[in-house]
Amino acid sequence: MRFLVTAGPTREPIDPVRYISNRSSGKMGYAIAEAALEAGHDVVLISGLVNLQPLRGAKLVSVSTSDEMFNAVHQHAGGCDVCVLCAAVADYKPATLSPLKIKKRDEEFSLELIPTRDILASLGGWRDRRFLLVGFAAETHDLQENAVKKLRAKNCDIMVANDARVGMESDENELLVLFRGGEIKKIPRAPKKILARELIKIFSKFDTKMFDKKNVTISERN
Ligand code: C5P
Repeated sequence: MRFLVTAGPTREPIDPVRYISNRSSGKMGYAIAEAALEAGHDVVLISGLVNLQPLRGAKLVSVSTSDEMFNAVHQHAGGCDVCVLCAAVADYKPATLSPLKIKKRDEEFSLELIPTRDILASLGGWRDRRFLLVGFAAETHDLQENAVKKLRAKNCDIMVANDARVGMESDENELLVLFRGGEIKKIPRAPKKILARELIKIFSKFDTKMFDKKNVTISERN
């Protein structure tokens, strides 16, 4: 199977020396890409800037901003069987990019932010999508409820949810895997590499060739 995996944070520039970003390490996405490679799959890894070793065997597409990640995902998704969007894409970006460094002044300063494009939701809206679409939800509260809402709103097949306070920057995580059909599977706390292997087993069980186009449901192989 051919996997597309997004990983790491995006950087939304304010001026030539400043940007908005987040604390995502990229470890979960890289672990998923590595586990997919280990299982013999082809992997396109679309990665924000991270402090991790490049993965041997994966096609690496390095991006910085959410717009670059959006374009790279749209360029590669059509040729894939499974798209796992694990990146921590910024929700907002500056309305304008200052070409010059913004000078410090004594008065208050506010920055106008506009929403970024939601990459996962954009793939969820593709007509005749032929790949399994997996999103991630990092939450600090009402984990399951918020993850179910996102699964529906972004039209994914699987939403993998975790408590942001457990997983962020850490080597470990614990996961709730929510399926489009309503099933829920809990994967207890473990190193991200072990969790990634479990996830790849789950994703590989879905045969995207069995997509029922009318109802956009997927069938699990026995
Ligand atoms: O809404 P929230 O950002 O919590 O949703 C998380 C999921 O959506 C992740 O799978 C993330 O990669 C994806 N996402 C995206 N584009 C955005 C924001 C989030 O693909 N602009």
